[in-house]
Amino acid sequence: MSAVPLVVLVGPMGVGKSTVGQLLAEQLGVGYRDTDEDVVAAQGRSIAEIFVDEGEPAFRAIEKRAVHKALADHDGVLALGGGAILDQETRALLAGLRVVYLSIDVEEAVRRTGLNAARPLLAGNPRKQWRELMEARRHLYEQIATAVVSTDGRTPEEVTQVALDALELKEA
Ligand code: S3P
Repeated sequence: MSAVPLVVLVGPMGVGKSTVGQLLAEQLGVGYRDTDEDVVAAQGRSIAEIFVDEGEPAFRAIEKRAVHKALADHDGVLALGGGAILDQETRALLAGLRVVYLSIDVEEAVRRTGLNAARPLLAGNPRKQWRELMEARRHLYEQIATAVVSTDGRTPEEVTQVALDALELKEA
C-alpha cells in the first residue's frame, strides 16, 4: 500500500505524542501508528534492550527503516520516536507533510520521564540529558514543523484541540 500520513507528530520524549496522537486520530476518524511500537514489534525486543545489545547507532538504523516504512504506508496519524528527526533523509521525507511539533518545558519533561527506565537516553541525570538532547534537536523540530503546539499547562485534550485548529483539519 502506498499512502501519506495525514498528520505526523514529532517532539521529545515525554511530551505526550502517543496520548495526543491517539486522541487526534480518534477526532479525525483515522488510524494511529507509533514508530517506537513498530520497532519493538519488528525486533521482538524493547527499545532499551536494543540500546543495551547493539548501541544507539544500530537503534537509529532500525528506527530509520521503521520510520521510512510508516511514512510510505500509513495514512492516519503517525507519531515518531523523539530522535527520528536526527536523520537527514527522514527530515527530507517530512517536507511537504503536516508535521506537528509538540513542545514541552524542561522541568515538566523531566517530571514526566525522569524515572522511566524504558528511556535509555535519560539514564543517569535526566535533567542534564534532556537539556542536552533539546539543545541538539530543538532547531530540527522547528525546521520541519508546520505547526508548533506547546503542551505546557494543557491537558492532552486541549493539546489535541489546539493541534486541530492549527492544522485547520476538521473533526470526523
Ligand atoms: C528516543 C525517544 C524514544 C525512543 C528511544 C530514543 C530519543 O521515543 O525512540 O528511546 O532519542 O529521543 P519517544 O519519543 O516516543 O519516547
